[in-house]
Amino acid sequence: MPATHDLIILGAGAAGLMCAATAGQRGRRVLLIDHADQPGKKILISGGGRCNFTNVGAAPDRFHSANPHFAKSALSRYTPADFIALVDRHGIAWHEKTLGQLFCDGSARQIVAMLMEECAKGAVRIALGQPIREVTHADGLFRVTHDGTVSTAPALVIATGGPSIPKMGATGFAYDLARQFGLKIVEPRPALVPLTLGGDEALFRDLSGVATEVMARAGKTAFREAALFTHKGLSGPAILQVSSYWRHGQPVGIDFLPSQTAGWTIAAKRQRPRTHFHTLLTEQLPARLAEVLAKRIGLWGELANLPNAKLEDAERRLADWQFHPNGTEGFAKAEVTAGGISTAELSSQTMAAKKVPGLYAIGEAVDVTGWLGGYNFQWAWASAVAAGLAV
Ligand code: FDA
Repeated sequence: MPATHDLIILGAGAAGLMCAATAGQRGRRVLLIDHADQPGKKILISGGGRCNFTNVGAAPDRFHSANPHFAKSALSRYTPADFIALVDRHGIAWHEKTLGQLFCDGSARQIVAMLMEECAKGAVRIALGQPIREVTHADGLFRVTHDGTVSTAPALVIATGGPSIPKMGATGFAYDLARQFGLKIVEPRPALVPLTLGGDEALFRDLSGVATEVMARAGKTAFREAALFTHKGLSGPAILQVSSYWRHGQPVGIDFLPSQTAGWTIAAKRQRPRTHFHTLLTEQLPARLAEVLAKRIGLWGELANLPNAKLEDAERRLADWQFHPNGTEGFAKAEVTAGGISTAELSSQTMAAKKVPGLYAIGEAVDVTGWLGGYNFQWAWASAVAAGLAV
């Protein structure tokens, strides 16, 4: 049977659309299939509807993977500047919010429209609302059964992402397919996800809605951003960031006053001996949080009446408050999935599977996960272009 296409891409998300446009514009006959009824659903809800489409600081050390070197090649060949140039060519206005994060001034819809236009330029055929029933490989051809049709091509790209936010149609299909072709999977786990607190620490849930800038640490990795108390535990950018590095059983250390240096309470005691310890905290932290922390530290009264050793001890606790999360809010609330198709199975230049000629995997399906702040889209674009240029 002759091939109906040069390339079939499964998943019309960020990576699939970008790969289809790249390969299509190189003259490849591309079929892009998705079970969802519209393309790029996660792009549409990303960045609060404005899509944090890249980060100007997207260096390889902002990504984690069993092989931290794997992402280097693709990221260096398709950079944030390349994506910005594309966005500019489409006249999409954007701004830098904070920490190198770039957002649309208008709507994330503009990014999806841009990718669809790029696909149209490459004459990509897009089949939406079509669940994939079966994928087989024989005689150098992949056969994909979808919507009662069998499409064939010598190359197949897995771009169906990870299982985070299943209610949006996210699935672990990429892993099933990869396993079918004998590729190894690095245990997938929720990342960029809120952490839950139980037991004695459940008391902190009373602070639900309180946010403050902290330095949050899991193991050796620390992030200085806002943390938010929720009715289940801890969230906010600092916590989402450390969640990707956190492992069950590990504590999360929080420095509630990251701008303070050792000895600050004793300096305050010298300058303002009549100030109450609790007031000192209230000056620098949200009042409800200051109250809970002062209560837990157990220091009350005027600074003049508090021994230096106790103040030093309080400083140490405030600088490294140990929380013991009992879990995460899981894939239902995870912005991304860490782990996935093992990079050991893929070429870092082309994203091609080493063992299966013609098979590629890109985007979140692969064991490369970025920090919060536009890094995950940059990986989706870069890995997609690497495959789209090679196929
Ligand atoms: P993606 O999930 O985008 O696409 C996979 C596609 O495959 C989907 O269209 C899906 O329908 C399809 N699919 C899945 N299973 C299938 C099956 N069995 N059959 C057929 N089709 C199937 N990142 C960032 O850099 N900046 C940001 O602002 C945000 N914001 C953000 C907000 C929220 C709420 C979430 C959940 C995530 C983000 N992200 C983000 C992460 C970012 O959305 C994510 O990393 C990329 O979308 C990954 O792109 P992929 O194309 O790999 O997967």
